Amino acid sequence: ATLYVVTPTYRRPEQEAELTRMAQTLLLVRNVRWIVIEDAKAPSKPVAKLLQRFGLPYEHLTAAMPEQYRKKKGPKPKGVAQRNRGLQWLRANAREGVFYFADDDNTYDVSIFEEIRTTKRVSMWPVGLCTKAGLSTPVVSTATGAFVGFHDGWIGGRKFPVDMAGFAVSVQFLHQRPKAQMPYSPGFEEDGFLRSLAPFEPKEIELKADNCTKVLVWHTQTKANAPSPPLDMAKYNQTNLAVLKT
Ligand code: UGA
Ligand code: MN
Repeated sequence: ATLYVVTPTYRRPEQEAELTRMAQTLLLVRNVRWIVIEDAKAPSKPVAKLLQRFGLPYEHLTAAMPEQYRKKKGPKPKGVAQRNRGLQWLRANAREGVFYFADDDNTYDVSIFEEIRTTKRVSMWPVGLCTKAGLSTPVVSTATGAFVGFHDGWIGGRKFPVDMAGFAVSVQFLHQRPKAQMPYSPGFEEDGFLRSLAPFEPKEIELKADNCTKVLVWHTQTKANAPSPPLDMAKYNQTNLAVLKT
């Protein structure tokens, strides 16, 4: 069955670097379809070109963050419109398989994609570097190997205090939960989505990454560069040429 990797992305100087790295990771994964969803009204040329160039099976979609949230001060519900668009696409186009919300800037060990293929309903595993705690993960008993709770630097009253990069869901289960979706509430996106899969309880999660003993994905963040227009190599070369001539 296909593994659907649902990736929100948005225009910024680092975008092509992030997507290149992620594309080259996914080239090492069999039977994968990359659902790339831009935070934009229309698909952009750079992203379209990049997706064509790598030859991965992909869908290029768009879903802009609603104005009301974009204009608000403080934390924004990043990638929510796109992940919900991804769910809509899956409901319309996929029958079986597994999907994973994979942000464009994280670092993925390719073995995590193999691990999550066998997800029957919802699987979870550790995510490195995502909080001050250094790790967000289901906790397993060393005595029994059974799930006993969650560890995260911030619990915040969440039923599922997990990172976006730390869970996958089967497409069949999504079809059984036609109302499931992600809320526009910063910090509570994962919890809100997982709660919307009710009836579903934390104790029912399938543990991956050798029973949650390995870190196979890291919530890395790329340092933002100085704001700059999209790189135009033709112009850039002309400028350099002008410098050389003088
Ligand atoms: C954390 C979580 O891991 C995200 O899944 C969550 O959406 C986000 O916080 C949040 O709740 O605000 P973080 O690394 O802080 O992630 O956020 P980003 O990586 O900047 O954004 C998450 C995803 O949304 C990325 O794939 C990014 O490309 C995309 N994004 C970000 C947009 O599409 N539009 C934006 O304006 C910003
Ligand atoms: Mn990120």
